[in-house]
Amino acid sequence: MMKNTTTTTTTHSLLSFFIFFFSVATISHSFSVSFSNAPLSVNEVRFIQRRQLLEFADRGENVTVDPSLVFENPRLRSAYIALQAWKQAILSDPNNITLNWIGSNVCSYTGVFCSRALDNRRIRTVAGIDLNHGDIAGYLPLELGLLTDLALFHVNSNRFCGTVPRTFNQLKLLFELDLSNNRFAGKFPTVVLQLPSLKFLDLRFNEFEGTVPKELFSKDLDAIFINHNRFRFELPENLGDSPVSVIVIANNHFHGCVPTSLVEMKNLNEIILMNNHLNSCLPADIGRLKNVTVFDVSFNELVGPLPESVGGLVEVEQLNVAHNLLSGKIPASICQLPKLENFTYSYNFFTGEAPVCLRLSEFDDRRNCLPGRPAQRSSRQCSAFLSRPPVDCESFSCGRSVSPSPPIVALPPPPPPSPPLPPQIYSPPPSPPVYSPPPSPPYSPPPPPTVHYSSPPPPQPVHHSSPPPPPSPEYEGPLPPVIGVSYASPPPPPFY
Ligand SMILES: *[C@@H]1O[C@H](CO)[C@@H](O)[C@H](O)[C@H]1NC(C)=O
Ligand SMILES: *[C@@H]1O[C@H](CO)[C@@H](O)[C@H](O)[C@H]1NC(C)=O
Ligand SMILES: *[C@@H]1O[C@H](CO)[C@@H](O)[C@H](O)[C@H]1NC(C)=O
Repeated sequence: MMKNTTTTTTTHSLLSFFIFFFSVATISHSFSVSFSNAPLSVNEVRFIQRRQLLEFADRGENVTVDPSLVFENPRLRSAYIALQAWKQAILSDPNNITLNWIGSNVCSYTGVFCSRALDNRRIRTVAGIDLNHGDIAGYLPLELGLLTDLALFHVNSNRFCGTVPRTFNQLKLLFELDLSNNRFAGKFPTVVLQLPSLKFLDLRFNEFEGTVPKELFSKDLDAIFINHNRFRFELPENLGDSPVSVIVIANNHFHGCVPTSLVEMKNLNEIILMNNHLNSCLPADIGRLKNVTVFDVSFNELVGPLPESVGGLVEVEQLNVAHNLLSGKIPASICQLPKLENFTYSYNFFTGEAPVCLRLSEFDDRRNCLPGRPAQRSSRQCSAFLSRPPVDCESFSCGRSVSPSPPIVALPPPPPPSPPLPPQIYSPPPSPPVYSPPPSPPYSPPPPPTVHYSSPPPPQPVHHSSPPPPPSPEYEGPLPPVIGVSYASPPPPPFY
């Protein structure tokens, strides 16, 4: 009896806590809650349990195929098994997306797209799944590995949890995998490394943790989005081997060097490393990244100067080095870059900037040690920082074939107390308004469409996200899509 009472009380406080969260996140429109200790109604408890997935369990149901069902071909029969198993693994589908997932005509299911098989043009098979913004809760069952003709798998902005099933290694044609803005957890899903056709990998806004396998950067991918997870890791020296045009690792716990091999990334167009704990110098020959349009290393612990060669980033439009421990002078060549639209270098320890910098249409030089400029650090902070021995960038040994952990020599002192603390993993970076706040944790509704690759995928596709392949049941266009033309889905946010 005693025991029961205690359990009830505990459960009740837990639920109250969740309710509090709901109210704060204003997610719950379906019923109103109060902060009082009034007991919850049965329906309220059920509602919370559904939202929180407290009832999550693999119910181990098995799909049995009704012998009276007729299928166009055996692969569609397999697809039926996969999709029915998935439907059983769905615990909440508030928009009724899977309501019509009934019967043998899987090509007519909402979110399921068929196309002629690549190896047999006479039959149709399931080539794409697109449940983006479905708000569906559930998990991915092993049976999804039966969808062996799948080229696109897009489930962004749902409430899928658990991990990526190992059977995904059977998806040899999978070209785009978008799991962003869900509740996947656990280690990096290494099964993605076994997908020979994969070009677009989007794991943003999940709860993945631990290290990132260095093989990821040797893989022939075009886009890597792993921002807003809990990865904790050093960027490996083979980063430079990666053929990606876009890489976003923002808002994780990366530390250590910016590898010098970074400058060898041969297709690099956009790189966003913001809000990690990278603590080396920038590679001196960074200007070799001739095609980079977006370069963002803000909110790290980078030291040393802004290399003169940054002035060689002839295509750069957005350049952000704010909130680091950089020092020295801002070279004029950078502020003269022909396409530079926004240059942010606030919250560092720069002591000089070329006059041309002050004529940029958008720049931010606050909280440095710039003589005669407004909103600078105090002279006490500046002199404390600048009296330290100069940073020896060589000492970090961020190059290839050198031990990854640099001897810590001439490291600058910890930042003086005034700069705002680097944001916590889920808090929006304090100052630059260009970055939209990440979705607030937990249980908040899918964040609104916003800007920048650090934000969650917005609905309207831009950049790599252009028009979802008109996957319609009749769609027979090229699948997988041609690289470099446009990605079908993940709505990587437009940016800025
Ligand atoms: C599903 O059915 C197969 C074949 O009958 C069986 O081997 C498997 O154990 C079943 N799985 C579950 C979870 O019941
Ligand atoms: C989904 O279906 C249920 C039952 O058929 C219905 O009550 C509900 O309004 C539907 N929801 C939407 C968003 O259509
Ligand atoms: C830049 O892009 C052009 C055209 O796509 C390509 O030929 C060239 O190799 C690229 N250069 C670098 C340094 O990335």
